Amino acid sequence: MKLNIAVLSGDGIGPEVTDQAIKVLKAIALEFDHTFLFKEAPVGAIAIDQHNNPLPDPTLDLCKSSDAILFGAIGHPKYDNNPNAKVRPEQGLLKLRKELGLYANIRPVKAYETLLDKSPLKRDIINGTDISIYRELTGGIYFGKKYLSEDGNSASDLCEYSREEIERISHLAFKAAQSRKKKVTLVDKANVLETSRLWRKVVTELAIDYPDVELDFLFVDNAAMQMILNPKQFDVILTENLFGDVISDEASVIGGSIGLLASASVGDKYAMFEPIHGSYPQATSKGIANPIASILSAAMLLEHFGLYDEAELIKKGVDKSLKLEITTPDLNTKNDNVTTSKVGDFIADFISNPNDTNINFANIHLGQSTII
Ligand code: IPM
Ligand code: MG
Repeated sequence: MKLNIAVLSGDGIGPEVTDQAIKVLKAIALEFDHTFLFKEAPVGAIAIDQHNNPLPDPTLDLCKSSDAILFGAIGHPKYDNNPNAKVRPEQGLLKLRKELGLYANIRPVKAYETLLDKSPLKRDIINGTDISIYRELTGGIYFGKKYLSEDGNSASDLCEYSREEIERISHLAFKAAQSRKKKVTLVDKANVLETSRLWRKVVTELAIDYPDVELDFLFVDNAAMQMILNPKQFDVILTENLFGDVISDEASVIGGSIGLLASASVGDKYAMFEPIHGSYPQATSKGIANPIASILSAAMLLEHFGLYDEAELIKKGVDKSLKLEITTPDLNTKNDNVTTSKVGDFIADFISNPNDTNINFANIHLGQSTII
């Protein structure tokens, strides 16, 4: 298969983790005889520095003419700490989502067997957790009308949803549930918000088309609690934009590190793949950023194009790196000199030598020894 992939690695640790995803995709291309072509373009704070625009037109054009987009991270402290900044890196990502119609953000959350003790949550609570979060991505309070009074003392953000916006992501969530544990939980705040009541109504009506899928509802405050009390009760979580943002960061604690959580943002025409973590500016260029979320996002990209064996091999490589503790310091207490790039090298090497022994992996592929 030939794929043109736009690479928008962005700010902070974005470029270094995206480099590892590219490395792994190149190894896949070689093993499975695919052609993946990568073209880079600026987005976020770096694009503001260079072009005074967090999403320059050529970047958007590149995305529109590519088969898929690999995204890194955006954000910079100089904007976070300045509420008066008119142009912000995040606007680049939001505009990209909107312009490309990426209305469904899919965030898989699972507890890895080998990492059960890395989570601050008890092993018995998280063991076996496997959740797929479907977060609406182009509507709600993120995109509603914003207002700041002239004296700067009052402000508002409008939350709006239409039936159509709710329906299109809900269909995807129900279809996903059909090939999983056949359960959709709608997370909302229908006891208070009108938009949430619309979500309940529309989703309840639509559920009739999926009689094999069980539908239940949770208020978001309760869902936040249930997520850490009993995450195994969830299969597919369907929710609106802001609740999905919050719940998915919370859910990342189950996996042991936010550095593990990948995501796909899809619409009717375009698809973008990105780790859920941010730009982690304090870690930039230190080699400590966990590239696994980015690498798993690359696996989601392959799945999107039906390349399931290829994606599976990447996931096996990730499992192996976790098992052998060839991981960055967020997960690795034994060996703190495994860098971002080494994790990428290891997983790429695994793809080329999936049947090699663990000893060889621990020694050769880490570059610690040349003697078998
Ligand atoms: C995410 C991020 C973004 C969001 C930010 C960077 C705008 O937190 O993808 O979860 O809030 O959607
Ligand atoms: Mg977020």
